[in-house]
Amino acid sequence: MANDNSVMINVSEMNRHDLFQLRHQPVLRGHFTVPGDKSISHRSMIFGALAEGVTKVKGFLRSEDCLATMNIMRQLGVNIEDDRANGVDEIRVHGVGLHGLKVADKVLDCGNAGTAMRLLSGLLAAQSFESTLVGDESLSVRPMNRVIKPLTTMGADIVSDKGTAPLTFRASSHIQAIDYLSPIASAQVKSAVLLAGLFAEGVTSVAEPKKSRDHTETMLKGFGAEVEVEGLKVSVKGLPKLMAQDIQVPADISSAAFFMVLGLIHPDADFVIENVCVNKTRDGVIHILQAMGGDIVLTNQRQQAGESVADIRVRSSKLKGIYVPHDLIPSAIDEFPVLFVAAAHATGEFKLTGAEELKHKESDRIAVMIDGLKKLGVNCESLADGAVIRGHHNIVLNNACVDGHGDHRCAMSFLVASCLQPGTDISVKGCHNIATSFPDFFELMKGLSVDTQSITPVITIDGPSGVGKGTTSALVAKALGWHLLDSGAIYRAMALKAIGEGLMPDDEAALKVAAEGIDLRFEVTFDSEIAVFLDGQQVNDQLRTEACGEMASKIAPNKAMRAALLDRQKAFQQAPGLVADGRDMGTVVFQSAPLKVFLTASAEERAKRRHKQLQQKGVDVRIRDLLKDIEARDLRDSSRKVAPLVPADDAHVIDTSDLSIKEVLGQVLALAQKNGLYHGLQS
Ligand code: DC
Repeated sequence: MANDNSVMINVSEMNRHDLFQLRHQPVLRGHFTVPGDKSISHRSMIFGALAEGVTKVKGFLRSEDCLATMNIMRQLGVNIEDDRANGVDEIRVHGVGLHGLKVADKVLDCGNAGTAMRLLSGLLAAQSFESTLVGDESLSVRPMNRVIKPLTTMGADIVSDKGTAPLTFRASSHIQAIDYLSPIASAQVKSAVLLAGLFAEGVTSVAEPKKSRDHTETMLKGFGAEVEVEGLKVSVKGLPKLMAQDIQVPADISSAAFFMVLGLIHPDADFVIENVCVNKTRDGVIHILQAMGGDIVLTNQRQQAGESVADIRVRSSKLKGIYVPHDLIPSAIDEFPVLFVAAAHATGEFKLTGAEELKHKESDRIAVMIDGLKKLGVNCESLADGAVIRGHHNIVLNNACVDGHGDHRCAMSFLVASCLQPGTDISVKGCHNIATSFPDFFELMKGLSVDTQSITPVITIDGPSGVGKGTTSALVAKALGWHLLDSGAIYRAMALKAIGEGLMPDDEAALKVAAEGIDLRFEVTFDSEIAVFLDGQQVNDQLRTEACGEMASKIAPNKAMRAALLDRQKAFQQAPGLVADGRDMGTVVFQSAPLKVFLTASAEERAKRRHKQLQQKGVDVRIRDLLKDIEARDLRDSSRKVAPLVPADDAHVIDTSDLSIKEVLGQVLALAQKNGLYHGLQS
C-alpha cells in the first residue's frame, strides 16, 4: 500500500505537474503486469484498417502515441469502436480493405509518436489522395529522410522542408515494388517500405544490416499476406487480401524493463512481471541484464498469435559492468536509458559503443542520460556512439534535480534511479511525456508500494542586497500565483531578536537557542503584502533598517543558527509553488529546485538604487557611505564559510545593472516557461 501522504496522480495532473519524486518501500513482492506492447498496438490499428472484416484488439496500449495512430485511422475513414467506456477491454476496427481509406479533411497529427509517423508514411505514400502528417516539437526535428528516400524510389511524391515533418504525401498513381538495402537496422523504415509494398504489384523486399524488431512481418503474415523472411531480408507480395484478426496485445517489454531494473537494483525484491512479449528481436534488455549478473528468469513461455510471451521473475542482484555485445544493440535500443541506470548500480565499467542511433530518439538519449547521471554523481561519460559508466552496486546518488527533457523513457529511467535512494533529495523534471508510452507508470509504481509524490516546484532567486531580488521575487510569485519566501526577513528577524536580547554576533550557542525558540509568523495581508510578526508584534519597518540589515549580515555565518532556521524555510514549499528569495536558496535550502536564478549588479549601481529608495523615504545618506557598506557586506556574505553567497552550479546568472525590473521579470518568467513551470508568456 502506498502511504497516506502519497498523492493520487492521474494523467492530466501529470501534464500540469512536471516534477516528481519517488520513494521505494523496503520490500517489493508480487505478481503484476505492465500495459500492452506499443509496437503491436500501433500495427493492430493500421493492419486492422486495411483488412476485410472486424479486427478485435484486447490489451491495446491506450498511450498518447497509440491513440494518435488510432485517431489518424479514424480520420482516414475507418470506424474504430472502443468499448472501454462500458468497462470492456476491446477495440473493434472495422476494416475498409486495402483500397478503402478516404481523404482526411485536416492534417494528421502524430504527436510525439515516431512509429506513427514513419509507418503511416508508407501507407499514405501509396494512397490516391493527398495527406499531411505533422508532429510535436520533438518529432518535428527527428530524421524522416530515412523513409522519404526509399518511398520516393518506389514512386511516392513526398514534400518535406528539411527531411523532417510536416510531411505531405501527394496523391499517388503508381507505387512500384523495390528491393531495398537499408543502411540502418530500423523496424520503422522496414515497415514503411513493406506497407507501401502492399500497394505495389510484385514483391517488395527490405534487407537490413542487423535484424530489427519483426512485428510487422509477423502480424502481416497473421493477417494473411504472403511474407517471406530469409536471414536479414523480408519480402512481401503486393496487393494481398488481408483478413481481420483477433489480437491479444501482450505486455510491452520496453515498459517491463523499468521494473526489471528496479527489481535488480532494489535491496529486497522478488516479483513476477506477467504476459510480457519476449520476441527475439526485442529481448536484448534481458540478455544484457543477465550478462550483468541480473537474476532474471523467464517462466511459462508460450506462443500467442505468432509472438513469444513469458512471465519474467526478477530478484535483487549484485550487478557488474559489461561491454555490451554489438549484436544485442538493435533488440535493446529503446531500453538503454534504463540500462544506463542499471549500469550506475553495477560494479565496474559498463561500456556501450555502436549505438549512435540513440541520439535520434525522442531526445539525444546519450546526452540526456549522461548529463543526468553526472548530476547524480555517477562517474560516466558519453562517447560519439555510446557511453562509459563506472558504477557500484552500493552507489549513493547525489541530491539533484535531473531533467528527462520531455523524453518519456529518460524521465522514467531517472525516476527508477531516484526511488532507491532513501534520505536523498532527488527529483525529476521533464516527466510530461510519460503518458506517450506508459500512462499507468505512476499507478503501477504505487501498486508496488513505491510512494509517488508530485513535488511542489521551487524557483530560487539568490543574489546580494540591492540587486532587485526582493521586488523580482515578489513579482514572479504574483505572476505565477505561487508562495513567496523572503528568507532575508527571517535573518533580519533573528537579528532584531539578537539586538533585543543583547546577544553578540559571535555567540554561537546563544544564537542557536534563540533561533530554535524564535516566535516568528508571516501573514499575507489583504493587499498581498507580507506582514512579519516577531513575538506577536508586527516588525516590518524595524526589519528594513540599516542597523538590522547590518546585524543580520554579521550573525548570518553562524552554522548552528542557520541549521535551526532550515526547516522553517523549507516549510514554505507549498502547492502550487514557491519563489524563494535569499543568498543560499539554490545552494543549500532548495538544492533540487528546477529553476535557480542568481541576480548580480555592480556595487555602484546597487548603492545608487538604495540611495534613491532612502531619499524617497526622506533619509539623507551619502552614496559613498552606502557603497562602502555594500562592499563590506558583499565581502562578508560571499567569503563566509557557511552557505556563502555564490551562484549554484546550475543557476542562471542575470546581471541586472542595465536592466529594468520589468526586463528582469521577463527574463525569469521566460526561464520558468522554458522549464515547464509557467505557461503564460506569449511566444
Ligand atoms: O536579503 P536581505 O538584505 O534582507 O538579508 C539580510 C542578511 O541576511 C544578509 O546580509 C545575509 C543574510 N541572509 C543570509 O545569510 N541568507 C539568506 N538566505 C538570506 C539572508
